Amino acid sequence: MPHVKKVEDLRSRRWFGPADLRSFGHRSRAMQMGYAPEEWTGKPVIAILNTWSDLQPCHAHFKQRVDDVKRGILMAGGFPVELPAISVSESFVKPTTMMYRNMLAMEAEELLRSHPVDGAVLMGGCDKTTPGLLLGATSMNIPAIYLPAGPMLRGNWQGKILGSGSDSWKYWDELRAGKITDQDWLGVEGGIARSYGTCMTMGTASTMTAIAEAVGLVLPGGSSVPAADAGHIRLASESGRRIVDMVWEDLTPQRIQTREAFENAIAVAMAMGCSTNAIIHLIAMARRANCDIGLEDFERFSRKVPVIGNVRPSGNAYLMEDFFYAGGIKALMNQIREHLHLDCLTVTGRTLGENIEGAKVFNDDVIRTTSNPIYGEGSLAVLKGNLAPDGCVIKPAAMDQRFLKHSGPAVVFDDYDAMKKAVDDENYPFTPDTVMVLRNAGPQGGPGMPEWGMLPMPKKLLKEGHRDMLRISDARMSGTSYGACVLHVAPESYIGGPLALLRTGDVVELDVDARSINMRVSEEELAKRRAEWKEPEPRYGRGYGHMFLKHIQQANEGCDFDFLKTEFGPPVGEPVI
Ligand code: FES
Ligand code: MG
Repeated sequence: MPHVKKVEDLRSRRWFGPADLRSFGHRSRAMQMGYAPEEWTGKPVIAILNTWSDLQPCHAHFKQRVDDVKRGILMAGGFPVELPAISVSESFVKPTTMMYRNMLAMEAEELLRSHPVDGAVLMGGCDKTTPGLLLGATSMNIPAIYLPAGPMLRGNWQGKILGSGSDSWKYWDELRAGKITDQDWLGVEGGIARSYGTCMTMGTASTMTAIAEAVGLVLPGGSSVPAADAGHIRLASESGRRIVDMVWEDLTPQRIQTREAFENAIAVAMAMGCSTNAIIHLIAMARRANCDIGLEDFERFSRKVPVIGNVRPSGNAYLMEDFFYAGGIKALMNQIREHLHLDCLTVTGRTLGENIEGAKVFNDDVIRTTSNPIYGEGSLAVLKGNLAPDGCVIKPAAMDQRFLKHSGPAVVFDDYDAMKKAVDDENYPFTPDTVMVLRNAGPQGGPGMPEWGMLPMPKKLLKEGHRDMLRISDARMSGTSYGACVLHVAPESYIGGPLALLRTGDVVELDVDARSINMRVSEEELAKRRAEWKEPEPRYGRGYGHMFLKHIQQANEGCDFDFLKTEFGPPVGEPVI
């Protein structure tokens, strides 16, 4: 691509260029750190937003990997500066990382705005870090490239392959059932996460990094490279080299992220058998880029794009490492070319079509053809009805098919602890037809919409041999979960959505084919219950949580803060220097 920017146009020059007292200060402070003026003069300053921390196992390698990014930037004639950002560790951060996605988004945007930088390499990968970093970079809109952490190696215990998330639950149940020993369990504990990198099932992390690549913000094939592969080191330095040219080309996120690019992301998410969390993040990302993507777009693509990525939990055998060896994301995209807008621009300066040209599948059981898919169509369905006027989602690809059309009496729980007690109580009157409901678990009620949506199966039903039942909540579900779980009910119960009016014993009707979910309760009765409903106390009275509750939007709107929306007010200008 042609270079359109000149040295005089560099944003960082406003800090370093002028012959005045303020710039004297910036230059002398750079020299205080040991840099000579030759190192920055006339060069793009590249921010590296690094989400490394000592409590972020998925990004443990970023402490060293950032040096490879710097090497690339220096090679291409840029000046690298590392800026640490909150690491939002899915495994350690409570009550849920979803509380902090928007905090990272704000931090990313403001780090880029307030510092003398011309472009950015965004280092993330663990679930919320991808959307967090991309939301911020999109709003700031200086050239940016995404470097995914890469999936960790396959787990291993006694020669058996272990997958993140899914196998923890599986072997926990085996332990409770007395089928494995405490010693075995310790072996699983040590073997399930054997290297740095993100979860290696098709959970939220792998889904979101694939989406970042499909939308055009990752170097071709980059989202599939395992964290521990030497190729990942080369990817890091190549991302550093590429961003310097992107600055000269003025290749900004908003030029890349068009409506068509987001449609590509949705198509790829469907073909990968994506985590339901992807819906929320993609809606938020698209809206920041001024593209009005909503639940109906997911429904549309779900109906035409089959699941061809045979990676757990939608697939039954393989993990991300196998997916990489089979050709990775480029090969998958090449298989669904007919569903993609191939002329979309990407960080390479070339089109998506050019990036994936000739990408081959090396194992057609891992990356299937569209005529031999894992799941034909409708891997994900958007439902509406008097229980969820603004929509909710279910993953038909990962549930017992007999619940696709179901009606049964509701058993309603107002909080997680009450539900937990009931499912462990073998005398609690659950039946296979029961529709188990958990409410007050949405963006405000959770708070932060925790991943509680795969409500545990009642012990009583498990003992009777049942493995699935219809479950409904306004929570989210981990990307590695499965079951007949209706999620993201909007509006949520905590703010008085109709789910708040449901009572134990009411009949709930689900019809996935008709995309409907209803409670069989009359309008008059609902009006009466609504009049009796009392607004609960907010979950936080001060601090970040207080701000979160005041501004968080509902799931169908992407859970962005209202004041971060692009159209919220006039654009934020450049800082006064
Ligand atoms: Fe970080 Fe799963 S815990 S990706
Ligand atoms: Mg997860």
